[in-house]
Amino acid sequence: MISAAVDNQGQIFNRQDSEPAHVPSIVSTGKVLQADSVPNPNKQKVLFVTSEIADLVKTGGLGDVSAALPRAMSPLHDVRVLIPGYPQVMNSDNPIHIVGELGGHAALPPCKIGRMDLADGLVIYVLICPELYEREGTPYGANNGRDWPDNHIRFARLGLAAADIAAGLGMVHWKPDLVHAHDWPAGLAPAYMQWRGLSTPTLFTIHNLAYQGVFSRACCPELGVPTHALQQEGMEFYGKLSFLKAGMAYSNRITTVSATYAKEITTSEFGCGLEGFLSSKAQQGLLSGIPNGIDESWESATDPHLICPFSLNDWDGKAVNADHVRSLFGLDDSEGPLFAVVSRLVYQKGLDLTEAVAEFIVEQGGQIAIIGRGEPEEEQAMRELALRFPGQVGVRIGFNETDARRMFAGSDFLLMPSRYEPCGLSQMYAQRFGSLPVARNTGGLADTIEDGVTGFLFNESTVQSYEQALARAFYVFSKPELLNAMRCLAMTQPFNWCQAVEPYAKLYEDMVKGSLKAPARY
Ligand code: ADP
Ligand code: GLC
Repeated sequence: MISAAVDNQGQIFNRQDSEPAHVPSIVSTGKVLQADSVPNPNKQKVLFVTSEIADLVKTGGLGDVSAALPRAMSPLHDVRVLIPGYPQVMNSDNPIHIVGELGGHAALPPCKIGRMDLADGLVIYVLICPELYEREGTPYGANNGRDWPDNHIRFARLGLAAADIAAGLGMVHWKPDLVHAHDWPAGLAPAYMQWRGLSTPTLFTIHNLAYQGVFSRACCPELGVPTHALQQEGMEFYGKLSFLKAGMAYSNRITTVSATYAKEITTSEFGCGLEGFLSSKAQQGLLSGIPNGIDESWESATDPHLICPFSLNDWDGKAVNADHVRSLFGLDDSEGPLFAVVSRLVYQKGLDLTEAVAEFIVEQGGQIAIIGRGEPEEEQAMRELALRFPGQVGVRIGFNETDARRMFAGSDFLLMPSRYEPCGLSQMYAQRFGSLPVARNTGGLADTIEDGVTGFLFNESTVQSYEQALARAFYVFSKPELLNAMRCLAMTQPFNWCQAVEPYAKLYEDMVKGSLKAPARY
């Protein structure tokens, strides 16, 4: 399926999404536990290298995780985040103090490192290089949805900055014991560290294997990639350079964001051409899945974004949020079920399937509210869907956290027919707010939804399979006692970051102690 996803787009994606610029400033607070300000000499120093953090800029779940996981780890380890200085970062209200300067390398320009201390103590290192990052748009592209043509330079600079900091260069005065890099934009961090002979251990987390950061091998001189890296065990991918593969090839350990996805990516259906490479890593015990959690702000009784905060069994309170969503999306008054779609509008998310089942939903008295932004064709398809079913299907192209939270709170069901889903956060947010997911049985969806108990899973990416799950959802909706019992179970699922902290902490500790077998290095 994934290879189909890639083929269908005619390319391997280099970006996370085509989300345009005006991502609202804050959103998920990421608050899990208060950052510990008392210095603890036993804490390991971890540099978390990412291209998004929800406090400042996000296009999807990577931003949420980058905000929450460092905070969740903070009682145990001193985790600091390195992120490029996009306008959303530079122009936030948080002061930035310059703490270091890094030299250039090959065609990568010199840059400065700024330090930003967030209110709860989380330390962000900002990579300041106006010529690369201070542009209107998303982290990955312009507002017209096109990737920036120099993304190889922009994100190589991010990787190199991490390697520089790990090497103690640039007077940053904080040298990590471990570097934790995320997705292809951070993929060159472990690579530059390896090429420089640094022994600092590196962990690479795959949030989405389909976005690979693939560039022509002609970019090698600009990036300072050594020729020996151009081999199968290095960053070579079908004759090109893959930043994602570099991250995996040169790190000591690889994780992804659910146990099921960790297995799926070793198969040809989900491996995006990297299944052989990943199977070999899995066989060596170097690949594992650690599921994401959701942060404490996801509490329906206290969430200030909601029109009417509500607790377990307060279904009237939930209904007030539903009324609001109906009016926001121009939907008619109705006693029928309200289905929500809160999603990046990209092929991965299976929106064409939702388009195909919309008539089935509407014919049975259901309504659909859709919010999201993404590929222009997917956005257009959603607009056309709303035109086909006036008063029953409503669409808002764009994204804002308040509306998204109100939709999770007001809807009865969340539609998530993803073709693949490394973890997925939206299905956990929905459950916490009493909206039962109707989702494809894949990746993190399979791991976080109990079929017929906290939601409805279907196996095949087909209209028939999807409609069978929807029919079960309609049946449950017609039996209020059953519906409310499922809502209660969904709302009390123990989704939080605690379950992820322990495995990550163990991995960090084992890696720093050097007790994990190091992979062969190329
Ligand atoms: P993914 O990361 O693949 O988009 P997740 O379910 O892990 O999927 O995370 C989705 C997160 O991104 C949620 O916080 C959701 O509210 C948010 N989100 C969904 N669509 C958009 C969008 N178009 N722009 C920004 N954030 C979005
Ligand atoms: C990616 C995946 C999503 C995951 C998120 C955070 O965007 O598509 O499934 O939840 O990263 O890890």
